[in-house]
Amino acid sequence: MTKKIGLIVGSLRELSYNGMIANTIPELVTAAEYEHISIAELPLYNADLDHGDGPDTVKFFREAIGRTDGILIISPEYNSGTPGVLKNALDWASTPTKTAVLIKKPVAVVGATPGVKGTILSQQQIRQTLEATQSYVLPHQKMYISEIINKVDQESRKLTDETTRKYLQRYVLSFFQWIDQVDRLNS
Ligand code: FNR
Repeated sequence: MTKKIGLIVGSLRELSYNGMIANTIPELVTAAEYEHISIAELPLYNADLDHGDGPDTVKFFREAIGRTDGILIISPEYNSGTPGVLKNALDWASTPTKTAVLIKKPVAVVGATPGVKGTILSQQQIRQTLEATQSYVLPHQKMYISEIINKVDQESRKLTDETTRKYLQRYVLSFFQWIDQVDRLNS
């Protein structure tokens, strides 16, 4: 069956490099359906708003995650950690505690930076958060993209560096295998 993959970008800016990575994934691995799940309209997490379905934007966000077979997070690093907007989104997706949409959801993390360290530190934090949400994070394999400015085409807003495209394609295919493994574990 065709997999449904949610793409969550941890940057809100229009010309986000991480957004360009997300734009490229569907053409690298075509055997799936992709949905960009926006986090831009989510309110700041407030437990006082978190009852019933919560605010509409939260409801739609959770429903979007719920209808996927797996989530790919593509995020920058801010101040050696997770961008606040992404952490906020993951917090919304982590409740209600017993029925949250992230529970048992396969997730993989990708990150791009103009710097040389490829978002190692933010990915550590994102993985730590995901672990607390009881999602199933792709183990061991990591996808760090450094010096991203030299690897994209600003006009098409796509990843163009061939080596990185192949690396990303392999990573996404590994994630698909992980989704199948988790599926067997869950059933
Ligand atoms: C950054 N940037 C950054 N980069 C990095 O590799 N490690 C870091 O700790 C930080 N910290 C940081 C903090 C803040 C507040 C900003 C705005 C930026 C640079 C960051 O990687 C760069 O702006 C990316 O282009 C952001 O990703 P998008 O928006 O292009 O996807």
